[in-house]
Amino acid sequence: MQTAHSLDVLRTNVSKLRSGGARIGLVPTMGALHEGHLTLVRRALEECDAVVASIFVNPTQFGPNEDLDAYPRQLAQDAAMLESEGCALLWAPEASEMYPDGFVTNIAVTGVSEGLCGADRPGHFDGVATVVNKLFNQVLPDMAFFGEKDFQQLAVIRSMARDLNLSLPHVHSIIGVPTVREADGLAMSSRNRYLSKANRQAAAILPRAMKSAIAAIEAGSDVASCLTQLEGALIEAGFDSVDYAVLADATSLKALERLGGKPARLLVAARIGGTRLIDNMAVSS
Ligand code: PAF
Repeated sequence: MQTAHSLDVLRTNVSKLRSGGARIGLVPTMGALHEGHLTLVRRALEECDAVVASIFVNPTQFGPNEDLDAYPRQLAQDAAMLESEGCALLWAPEASEMYPDGFVTNIAVTGVSEGLCGADRPGHFDGVATVVNKLFNQVLPDMAFFGEKDFQQLAVIRSMARDLNLSLPHVHSIIGVPTVREADGLAMSSRNRYLSKANRQAAAILPRAMKSAIAAIEAGSDVASCLTQLEGALIEAGFDSVDYAVLADATSLKALERLGGKPARLLVAARIGGTRLIDNMAVSS
């Protein structure tokens, strides 16, 4: 696996990979890789001839109260994991390469970015959309792979790609890959490492309570009552607070009061011991 730290080296290596018409898959990450990220690489390898992974801890998606400096950085370890999965190229730019002096552009995807995590993290999705657009333009992948774990992020990126006509010949599909879970059902996340043993155990209630709420909603129970019950179950199990528990349209992410025959999603963000966990699951209507 080659590693590129500059745009010139990236482009030379991508051209080599593409020679002969090979299809390139991009897996954008911020590093601190776990099984969830590696699943994205494996899926990309199934669909494409060569995989480029990026590792860039993007400063513009961190708010002033979010600790960018404390975000885990382990480039050598991450590179070894990517290499052993069969990744062809690692794109690991410096911040000065991504945001040189005089950088003034911002992509704001309104609507879908505004509620849920966007309500709590102003500017976060602008930072995500801007950096992902840059990564797309830098690598010019045929396909890009994102985890459904960050469902709102995926919806924002899909909206951006649609609105800015990011399409053939490059980035012609954005693939959402199902969330990878621990044995007890907790969604894998770089944040799980911050949980104490007791909180880690208690956190397993989150997917279980979500599944119960979904079963009740699908069976026709009142949505608002199911969500209130879900929040209560989390607090009772040891969560400190619930930022949101929402049934939403799976594309627009607009809140739904009842199922309406269109794909729906249950999305939850809740805090335990200072760590904010998010999860989401499909709801059949
Ligand atoms: O999901 C992430 O790791 C990041 O938000 C992404 C998509 C790599 C953009 O920085």
